[in-house]
Amino acid sequence: MFQLLLLALSFLESPVFMASVSVSRSKPVGIVGGHRTLPGRWPWQVSLRTYDYKASSWVHICGGSIIRRQWILTAAHCIQSQDADPALFRVQVGEVYLYKEQDLLNISRIIIHPDYNEFSKTFDVALMQLTARLVTSTHVSPVSLPKDTSTFSSTDQCWLAGWGKVLQNVPLQPPYQLYEVKIPIQDNESCKRAYRKKMSDEPQSVAIFDDMLCAGTLGRGPCFGDSGSPLVCLKRKKWVQVGVASISVDCSNDLPSIFSRVQSSLAWIHQHI
Ligand SMILES: *[C@@H]1O[C@H](CO)[C@@H](O)[C@H](O)[C@H]1NC(C)=O
Ligand SMILES: *[C@@H]1O[C@H](CO)[C@@H](O)[C@H](O)[C@H]1NC(C)=O
Repeated sequence: MFQLLLLALSFLESPVFMASVSVSRSKPVGIVGGHRTLPGRWPWQVSLRTYDYKASSWVHICGGSIIRRQWILTAAHCIQSQDADPALFRVQVGEVYLYKEQDLLNISRIIIHPDYNEFSKTFDVALMQLTARLVTSTHVSPVSLPKDTSTFSSTDQCWLAGWGKVLQNVPLQPPYQLYEVKIPIQDNESCKRAYRKKMSDEPQSVAIFDDMLCAGTLGRGPCFGDSGSPLVCLKRKKWVQVGVASISVDCSNDLPSIFSRVQSSLAWIHQHI
């Protein structure tokens, strides 16, 4: 058996399985398949927190990215509710370690993509406005958004970073250092084919829509807690965010993981920021 998993860590205690199909399980390697990163390498990477009463602390639930000095991009399913209270969230910026005692930032506004569908997971993107503009530094700076006309393919150098589990049942261990993994973008058709093939007997099969992008395979990619984390590619010596981590099968064990395609949401992003 394997399951299709939403990647938000809040689903960790009671995982939401979007679909399950019978398939043999191969061994995943550590994101999953990655290694620890150095400070300053991904200065737009943020950790999204919610308050956990049991732990009496703000715990990591998702990743996100700084796209402007006052704006964070993350996955809509990390927020869950259209009318979520911004006061329920905090953001950590400029760190590769989680839970170092430093100030968490407050959110003043949350905007979920109007076409987000919690069942199909189309347009799984949300914007969060910080209460104050960030002071940029070598450890805090926005990532570039792609141009409408740019194309991205498996030949681009693309990376994902996050604080999610390093294996499906293995959480990141203290000191919770950010992990990174290089993952290739998969072309749309072969990704759709791979999903159709694996899920041909599955009534709840996963459809890959045009606003989605596939990347990673064979034990490399996102796991629980990596939702909302940015997939970035090097374009003309500049890092450009092409995807937002959304869903995965068995933590990148087998099929490519699914990202929300940033280019599909560009008009909506520019309308708000
Ligand atoms: C965030 O909001 C809380 C509650 O309103 C407040 O106590 C705290 O000082 C704020 N933090 C920052 C960094 O503005
Ligand atoms: C995949 O489909 C999208 C949306 O239709 C298109 O913009 C993109 O160029 C395609 N990319 C690849 C790598 O197949």
